[in-house]
Amino acid sequence: MSSFSDEEFNFTYLDEGFTAKDILDQKINEVSSSDDKDAFYVADLGDVLKKHLRWYKALPRVFPFYAVKCNDSIAVVKTLAALGAGFDCASKTEIQLVQSVGVPPERIIYANPCKQVSQIKHAANSGVQMMTFDSEVELMKVARAHPKAKLVLRIATDDSKAVCRLSVKFGATLKTSRLLLERAKELDINVIGVSFHVGSGCTDPETFVQAISDARCVFDMGIELGFNMYLLDIGGGFPGSEDAKLKFEEITNVINPALDKYFPSDSGVRIIAEPGRYYVASAFTLAVNIIAKKVVIKEQTGSDDEEEANDKTLMYYVNDGVYGSFNCILYDHAHVKPILQKRPKPDEKYYSCSIWGPTCDGLDRIVERCPMPELQVGDWMLFENMGAYTVAAASTFNGFQRPTIHYVMSRPAWQLMEQIKEQGFQAEVEEQDITLPQSCAWESGIEHYPAACASASINV
Ligand SMILES: Cc1ncc(COP(=O)(O)O)c(C=O)c1O
Repeated sequence: MSSFSDEEFNFTYLDEGFTAKDILDQKINEVSSSDDKDAFYVADLGDVLKKHLRWYKALPRVFPFYAVKCNDSIAVVKTLAALGAGFDCASKTEIQLVQSVGVPPERIIYANPCKQVSQIKHAANSGVQMMTFDSEVELMKVARAHPKAKLVLRIATDDSKAVCRLSVKFGATLKTSRLLLERAKELDINVIGVSFHVGSGCTDPETFVQAISDARCVFDMGIELGFNMYLLDIGGGFPGSEDAKLKFEEITNVINPALDKYFPSDSGVRIIAEPGRYYVASAFTLAVNIIAKKVVIKEQTGSDDEEEANDKTLMYYVNDGVYGSFNCILYDHAHVKPILQKRPKPDEKYYSCSIWGPTCDGLDRIVERCPMPELQVGDWMLFENMGAYTVAAASTFNGFQRPTIHYVMSRPAWQLMEQIKEQGFQAEVEEQDITLPQSCAWESGIEHYPAACASASINV
């Protein structure tokens, strides 16, 4: 029996020609006549698989360690574990989560440069050896708590053009790197390589080039001091959806030549990365329901803008907000765009609208102003690309529960995943176009929708 059929990993099996969006519509239809219209997600695990194939096509030399912090849903972790990915864990709990699905310690990097001693000890007891550092104090803690650790020196990058900056908090300068390597030598600690993070939501691929070149300098310092430097970790920062300013391949087209220049294949250096957003952003779509509405009558403005000139604005209150999934607005600088579930009529009048979360806090605003037709309580709005830094940091402030996540996957995606699990990842798989029998029966007992059963093909 497949490991994906346990209680925590139920998913709907998509039938041929059906998409995650169809499941979303189906879920909405199911509750149309009831008052029970809680917000929910539909997450397409096949999309995570596609990203994995696309990763290897674009970055054939780089082994991905998924950054669990980005979305720690068990189904995502299990999918990536089955695909053979590695994991970047920030804490003891993340290490426990990843190990609970059978990931071996060699496929884990404890990539938090500032760790609590008890958690370093936990890593030691769990067999996790790779961990990052960027200070002398961390070196001394590791020397005592985990003398067998394989340390990776995190260097700072110029992340001034990234959406979320990380080098304000982490990363050693080149000068400090030499001092740290010397100190590691004195403490008899094993330093195996260098890591960096260009900042999440990188908008300038040249940042990667500079960071890779800096990593080369630090590698040479380490080699000079007698370390066996064999690991380069190029971190995260890759876009997760097609609406990002910079496309994934635009970044990888710049990274590959830099890797070949500074860390050629025959250097024997193992290259890894810590993508988070890349893997999960586009897989998750959130459906929220309008729970309340206010009509605000405006003074006449005399504006030519049709929407502005309308005599009213509308305030919609929905059942998820910035204390829940939309925490990405506060923490991840996200700008979200609603899609109406009901298609507006061609001649429908548009109004200036704002969208608010369900809590009693005035900060709980999702969209300040957007043009929308007049909607009613009970109508649905959809938000795409909601997989990254959303569910992971959502709270239940004011007693509002986090949305349920409904996972879906097509049969070809599932079969391909099984194939990768059994035979490992093979380059040919990425171009494969798979068509499968129409049968919906599934021996493993995974939840199954008659109206949306079977599947199409995976094109990467
Ligand atoms: C150490 C580390 N690695 C990887 C990531 C994932 O970054 P992204 O989601 O931009 O790929 C983060 C994000 O904060 C991080 O701090």
